[in-house]
Amino acid sequence: MCGICASIGKGNQIEDVLKGLKRLEYRGYDSSGIALLKKAKIETIKSVGTINRLEEKVCGNDNSNVVIGHTRWATHGKVCKENSHPHLSFDGSVAIVHNGIIENFEELKKQLDGVEFHSQTDTEVFSNLIAKESGSSLEKLLSASKKVQGSFAIAVLFENEKKIYCAKRKSPLYVAIRQGQIMAASDISAFEDKFDFFYVLEDDEFAILSENKVEFFAADCTGIEKEQKMFEKTAFFEDFPDEKCFMRKEIAEQPIVLKRTSFKYFSEKVVSDETISKLKKFHNFHFVACGTAYHSALLGAEYLQRFAKKHCEVSVASEFRYGSQKINKKCLYVFVSQSGETADTIACASMVKEKGAKVLCVTNVPYCTLNNLADFILPTFAGKEIAVASTKAYVAQVFTMLILAGLMSEKDLSETLKRFVLSFQIKPFPEEILKEIFSYSKIFFVGRGQDYVTSLEGALKLKEIAYINCIGIAAGELKHGTLALVDDKTLVVVISTKKSMREKIENNIQEIKARGGKILLLSQFEHNVDVEYKIDLTAFDEEFMPIESIAFLQQLALAYALAEGYDPDKPRNLAKSVTVE
Ligand code: G6P
Repeated sequence: MCGICASIGKGNQIEDVLKGLKRLEYRGYDSSGIALLKKAKIETIKSVGTINRLEEKVCGNDNSNVVIGHTRWATHGKVCKENSHPHLSFDGSVAIVHNGIIENFEELKKQLDGVEFHSQTDTEVFSNLIAKESGSSLEKLLSASKKVQGSFAIAVLFENEKKIYCAKRKSPLYVAIRQGQIMAASDISAFEDKFDFFYVLEDDEFAILSENKVEFFAADCTGIEKEQKMFEKTAFFEDFPDEKCFMRKEIAEQPIVLKRTSFKYFSEKVVSDETISKLKKFHNFHFVACGTAYHSALLGAEYLQRFAKKHCEVSVASEFRYGSQKINKKCLYVFVSQSGETADTIACASMVKEKGAKVLCVTNVPYCTLNNLADFILPTFAGKEIAVASTKAYVAQVFTMLILAGLMSEKDLSETLKRFVLSFQIKPFPEEILKEIFSYSKIFFVGRGQDYVTSLEGALKLKEIAYINCIGIAAGELKHGTLALVDDKTLVVVISTKKSMREKIENNIQEIKARGGKILLLSQFEHNVDVEYKIDLTAFDEEFMPIESIAFLQQLALAYALAEGYDPDKPRNLAKSVTVE
């Protein structure tokens, strides 16, 4: 995974690179480092932990106008200073920062006979390969890249050269330019506050950044002209305030996100009637996504089936990618992704496109790799989501897909949708219940239909940030195995928002109670069974209840994480954007 950020310009560039890296921490925060050109020699500063730790290591004397930096999510080799980037070549003449995976690094390592390696990473092979090649720096980079298999976005420093070399294959890389400064980064968020224009580097293209210009080259070394893109300074551009807990902020923002989404789709008509008519022509939809986005895809499929009478299937991207299903050209493949950079989701979209089917992407980041593959784009308007565990982006996806289902349905849902956003609020999770349930560490989440999806997402939140080994299960499946685990130390969170399922859920509650399990029920109506704890949900139309109920489960996970002293924004071992398979 990882994020890279590099800057060259007038004056010291360290601060801007560190600032950029902080904004890329969502891609990993195990360790970080920078390399600078000082008196034509390369120096590195590295640290385990977040960018704040690295910042502490940079001292007043460190000054350079050519700097490359990296924030890491460990793929090859444990989290330690030696494995953190930048990686130097054997002779110290080349430094590299890398996002991606070099798949043939073991094989290449064998070819680099006599070179002493100092890390367990795949990346160190790349810096050595470059250093061993001959010719100009660009030629060295080109020939090394040809030998490498896998994915990479790299920024490279050569000693004695006031330049930054960049290249990419499969991993994203952007270059931004303004008077006196040029930056490159894995994501435009690293520099979008300072620049007006940027370039998108395509696979196997190269860029050379020098103090006052940027040059682009194709794989055969010929110079190319690239189209300049303008940053869309959105009205809701949220910078990074001095927020102590982004997850709390992002949960609280959900009502405004829904209002914004409603405005964008119903007033600004971000998706044209013509596009909707094209989408209506498809009868079969196949949703593909990972993590939380997979859960919103499950709801998207449910809404399209319920309101637009379409036939829908849903797959986890990493399974779909290697599955044996045939790609159906008449089906519309829908890829849901907050970042638009998730490696498995992108690979599935490319595969589907290559086989001639159409691709619809539901993404929250306008300039992302997934959108480049799209025939249709359904933007979500969550704004920047910083906390690793997705909250507002999930709700934005769910609501956007409900809008889509409405636009494709015979029945006009727009007024109902607009009314909902005006009345939806985040109600706090009752403190008195929290106090009582903190002692449970064996927790299951159950529900039926749309509530089953909420139970999956609720369990994922608790796992991700509070490290509690819990699962979400279809309530009807309990007795096929999981009930064996239920005892008087078990808390079962039951989500019940479908009136037609009330009696069935009551039976499930009885089954749990008979084994001593304690119940936390989330519902907008009464049930004919006594439960230990109950949260009264606001009674919206049934289709909105996943949005109402998940807000409580997000807060539950947050409370558990904070009670244990964990950082909910940066859970261990995870990253926000999973850019490797
Ligand atoms: C990671 C994140 C999740 C996210 C998933 C898919 O696992 O931690 O929050 O749901 O990736 O990400 P995407 O950007 O494709 O929605």
